Amino acid sequence: MRYLAIAAVVMLILVGVIFNTAGKKMMEATTDEVAEAVLPEPASAGAGLYRQYCKQCHGLPEIETHTAEDWPRAVERMMKNMSASGQQMPDAGEHDLIVNYLVRNAK
Ligand code: HEC
Repeated sequence: MRYLAIAAVVMLILVGVIFNTAGKKMMEATTDEVAEAVLPEPASAGAGLYRQYCKQCHGLPEIETHTAEDWPRAVERMMKNMSASGQQMPDAGEHDLIVNYLVRNAK
């Protein structure tokens, strides 16, 4: 019985480590992180909200990774990610400020 309990704990730890590593790898693979110090329009409301909401799960993505045309769609996907995982979500007004900020500063 005791061995079973120990085996169960070891399994749980292993599974945790594997998932954690895989999750981090996925994030590294999907976002090129931008240093916050070099964000465009650093004092704007959009930059502040972008910083607040968009690095809850991964590093702050480089704005150049998407065109002005692509950003709205990418943000919609992130809204689904946020709602699915229970992270803090921007309200409608904040959402628009973030999208406008990204579109304005995309390449
Ligand atoms: C709930 C966690 C979460 C939050 C908060 C979040 N993301 Fe993501 N993001 C993910 C996950 C998971 C992936 C990888 C899978 C995918 O692309 O959906 C990702 C990938 C990305 C990528 C790379 C993939 C692509 O489409 O180029 C970008 C860019 C991105 N996120 C931008 C954002 C922006 C902008 C925000 C804020 C509006 C944001 N993320 C907030 C979870 C999140």
